[in-house]
Amino acid sequence: MTEPRNLPRHVGIIMDGNGRWAQRQGRPRLEGHRAGADSVRDITRASRQLGIEALTLYAFSSQNWQRPVDEVTGLMQLLREFLIDERSEILDNAIRLEAIGDVERLPPIVKEPLDELRAASAHHRGMTLTLALSYGGRESIARAVRDAVRDAVAGKLAPDDVDVERFASYLPTSQLPPVDLLIRTSGEQRISNFMLWEIAYAELVFIDVQWPDFRREHLQTCLDQYAARERRFGLTSAQLASDLDLEG
Ligand code: FPP
Repeated sequence: MTEPRNLPRHVGIIMDGNGRWAQRQGRPRLEGHRAGADSVRDITRASRQLGIEALTLYAFSSQNWQRPVDEVTGLMQLLREFLIDERSEILDNAIRLEAIGDVERLPPIVKEPLDELRAASAHHRGMTLTLALSYGGRESIARAVRDAVRDAVAGKLAPDDVDVERFASYLPTSQLPPVDLLIRTSGEQRISNFMLWEIAYAELVFIDVQWPDFRREHLQTCLDQYAARERRFGLTSAQLASDLDLEG
């Protein structure tokens, strides 16, 4: 069991390997995504029970629109089913559902239940579950720059006031704690355009398990790895040790 002190506040997950999981069994890719949706349910429940404050899942990237039409349509259907089937569990467990990405591009069958659940859960403080949908890290930064430039042109933002904190306030993750732990399943070791700004000091864990097989025991393995790491944020080990002494 991870000590509360060593529990990440915010976990991001790149849920990779659905297609390979299905192909390995000679089944269509979409069945991998369907099995992956079961992993989403289990990991959301486990994260809430463990006391993780924020869980952000990379469910559909800006680049995924270019996949075969049938796969995109199937993924949209799975997202809709998730939002409808999990609605009461999300509300009963005080989970706030959020979304980041170009959600205006989503079809109404997803956008409508998404907007409804975001509004219905907006006041919840148990855990924030954020779905990254039609999301890209570079696209997200470009959008933040656009918004900041608009404010500058309108005289609401002075160039000299743009520092790290001020810029981060334009990102869609600005209300979430910093990402402490980023997990990628399937054995690939890439970031694939996920939360590029936000993971600046995250610990990265790559685990050789396909997403449809990923269950709470695998999450615990990742949390144990995280707890064993020394996070220095640019300081030395000695500085960190003396900070801890001061904290008592
Ligand atoms: C990457 O695997 C996964 C995706 C592109 C989609 C993730 C979607 C789900 C887990 C299901 C629906 C989501 C929710 C929130 C209910 P891949 O297809 O790239 O796998 P591969 O690299 O093995 O081909």
